[in-house]
Amino acid sequence: MVIQGIEPTTIAKLRERLLGWYARNQRDLPWRRSRDPYAIWVSEIMLQQTRVAVVVERYQAFMMRFPTLLSLALAPEQAVLALWSGLGYYRRARMLHKAAQFVAGQCRGTLPTTAEELRVLPGIGAYTAAAIASIAHGERVAVVDGNVERVLCRLQGWEMGSRVGGAALRRKIEALAAELVDPLRPGDFNQALMELGATVCSPRNPRCQMCPLATDCSTRGEHKTTPKPRMLSQEVAYALSVRTGRRPGLTHREVLLQQRPASQTVMPGLWELPALSEAAVPEQALHMTLRHAIMQVNYYVRIRVVFEEEIEALTVAGGERRWVPLNEANEMALTGLTRKVLIRAHLLPTVSPDAIAPPAEVEVV
Ligand code: ADE
Repeated sequence: MVIQGIEPTTIAKLRERLLGWYARNQRDLPWRRSRDPYAIWVSEIMLQQTRVAVVVERYQAFMMRFPTLLSLALAPEQAVLALWSGLGYYRRARMLHKAAQFVAGQCRGTLPTTAEELRVLPGIGAYTAAAIASIAHGERVAVVDGNVERVLCRLQGWEMGSRVGGAALRRKIEALAAELVDPLRPGDFNQALMELGATVCSPRNPRCQMCPLATDCSTRGEHKTTPKPRMLSQEVAYALSVRTGRRPGLTHREVLLQQRPASQTVMPGLWELPALSEAAVPEQALHMTLRHAIMQVNYYVRIRVVFEEEIEALTVAGGERRWVPLNEANEMALTGLTRKVLIRAHLLPTVSPDAIAPPAEVEVV
């Protein structure tokens, strides 16, 4: 049978070349050293919409703190979000946590093994279910993410990106991926195709001379590229207020944080620095400026140190505010930007929170 215009012998050749290339070129990533479905699940959720370099560091801290599904299920949500800070898209962390609780409560703590059963869990869609089932259990199911879509479209000369016919194209891609996936090594095959898309068949400057599929590729660099999305800019300004707090026999430093209301669509419940009112940001009062990118927006951030007695006059009210000891702040669900500012101000350690819990109190000498 000829599938999608590809001969069976060609399919065999494509599989062999791709898997050979993967064996020689795969990146050494921490989750690739494990077949634990829970570990693979965590990595796949983190990898959605986040660069591998960012994920590697956060993944290791997360797995040290929550090495098993049960440890994750039993943790308070704020602790899970704290370990997620910097990865963004916090809904993913909330869903992962909820699903872990569901599995702990309803499935005797063991993740289902098939892609079909995995899809029932909150936050697990077709992509994640196929990734876990193929990598951890060797089920013959194809993973189709953005990288796989691009590789297959270029291979076949299918034009991507037009809204018209998008659903039909998606079905063609899924059917092709399902036929191509190697029946004996589906997990490696899926990861190889994603890896090829991420490192060789990249969106704008593909390195076709390095590609193991180049001889069978319909386009070989002659495809249309999607233009890089334009970054938008936005200016924001925050107050950094630190005071000395006292508890019997100890002093410690506290930072003023504000919780984003639960009604916010973006990062509800996360803690951040209070926003400065516009009038409070003269150049000479700035303590720090930095750029922080979230999706297509570059935030140009200005930070002013604000004394306790100035807070009311200089900041915009909203959300619950709390003076938080710095060692506790490190454990809270901070926005990525807030954590970045506190690290740059040397108020939080550079290293991610890890398995070693910080002391309950830090004495200030
Ligand atoms: N992107 C998301 N998951 C991946 C994986 N397991 N291997 C390579 N790239 C990926």
